Amino acid sequence: TGESRMAVSSLRQPANAAPRLLPPPPDVVLPIGDKTARWQALRELVLNHPVCQAHVRPGKQVVFGVGNLDARILFVGEAPGAEEEQQGEPFVGPAGQLLTRMIKAMGLERSEVYIGNIMNWRPELPSRADGTQVGNREPTLEEIAFCLPFITAQIDVVSPAIIVALGATAARGLLGPHNVRTMGDVRGRWHDFRGRPLRVTYHPSYLLRKVVEGKIPEQRAKRAAWEDYLAVMERAVLPITDKQRSFFLQ
Ligand code: URA
Repeated sequence: TGESRMAVSSLRQPANAAPRLLPPPPDVVLPIGDKTARWQALRELVLNHPVCQAHVRPGKQVVFGVGNLDARILFVGEAPGAEEEQQGEPFVGPAGQLLTRMIKAMGLERSEVYIGNIMNWRPELPSRADGTQVGNREPTLEEIAFCLPFITAQIDVVSPAIIVALGATAARGLLGPHNVRTMGDVRGRWHDFRGRPLRVTYHPSYLLRKVVEGKIPEQRAKRAAWEDYLAVMERAVLPITDKQRSFFLQ
């Protein structure tokens, strides 16, 4: 059609209202053009989308993906947290710092990959008296379904060789909720997302939490995740040194 179209209506309500019904998932139509033009149109559509806008508190931001539009590896996380909605960028808080370290361990820079989320706003919890939100909650299936066309369109535009789903929520969104009961169901093998290979690994926040709670030794948790990253590197035909192969082993 030569333009971006949205088939949704605005639902503006106070940010501390009870969870509300969302309209059906939007129909995303991008302009014909080069990657950058298509990505920019998509970004504008998402950032200005009335439903996304209606779900962010005053002063906070809708969060769209970032990174290299020619990335061969595209990471999909869950939803923005406090730092992300403040800065308007995915994975900039503690989980993001761990993800960035894992990307560097792969021999890549953050600027060489693409990073997006299943959801574009921070799932709301009741406000404190000062209007701020403490803590995060998992997105509902309805929220995931609403935002799914946005990450799908980002994947279509970037056209990565490999998709990495970070955690069960991302896996449920991309593979279908009925296909992902637990991480054990989906880790350790290749899946398909619209014709692209997809690997599921632990969410970096899960690794941080396990380590903080002392549930499993830090090295073991990180090694399990690292094996997923090694599988991605192999599939992406990235060079792997002996040192990289043995990361997190002792
Ligand atoms: N966790 C996510 O899943 N995404 C972010 O952007 C930040 C934390």
